Amino acid sequence: MSHSAYVFDAYGTLFDVHAAVRKHAEAVGPDANMVSMIWRAKQLEYSWTRTMMGRYRDFWELTEQALDYALAAVPSADTSMRAALLEAYHRLDCYGEVPEVLKQLRDSGAKLAILSNGSPEMLAGAVSAAGLDGVLDEVFSVDPLRAYKTDERVYEMVTNHFRIYPETVSFQSSNRWDIAGATNFGFRTVWINRTNLPDEYHDLPPNAVLPDLTGLAALG
Ligand code: LAC
Repeated sequence: MSHSAYVFDAYGTLFDVHAAVRKHAEAVGPDANMVSMIWRAKQLEYSWTRTMMGRYRDFWELTEQALDYALAAVPSADTSMRAALLEAYHRLDCYGEVPEVLKQLRDSGAKLAILSNGSPEMLAGAVSAAGLDGVLDEVFSVDPLRAYKTDERVYEMVTNHFRIYPETVSFQSSNRWDIAGATNFGFRTVWINRTNLPDEYHDLPPNAVLPDLTGLAALG
């Protein structure tokens, strides 16, 4: 099956969310990994609770608040690293295979886009740091909606903009909960299970599972 568009989640799928702490691991302290895990978990929790309450704050603000929580929750963490960690998060590394895979897909003639919780400003920073300027047709941020994934209106931004049917979109995310949301909306979905996590949301399965983005074009 050929797709009219390949749409990618940003954080965790194209950009390595743990790269910021990894870059400063020694300075953050012996529990740097735990800081990174709590940082990410809280950032996502805030996106869900705020959407349910109708009290939107943009993703950069949630990222800052989540880091503050993580630094407070881990006693060994050096809190003076806050600014350096936020700066690194603004310019995250992309995963190694990303530039080549996007180029291959682009050659197939499909539209390429990001669909992310990220604010427009932070997404622009990440795309440019990863050298992906000019590769993508669109970068969709939830910001104009003032609601986060898995609200259906988020996924609908893509079909409304490109005027295509959901089933012609191949949506890639490493976040299993995001795959559940995208499957619920009607996208064809590929779960990028980078860390070999167990499956969940069994009533909302992906169409395919890959360990990274390599091989996406071959899925057809
Ligand atoms: C995003 C978060 C979910 O980029 O990783 O939308």
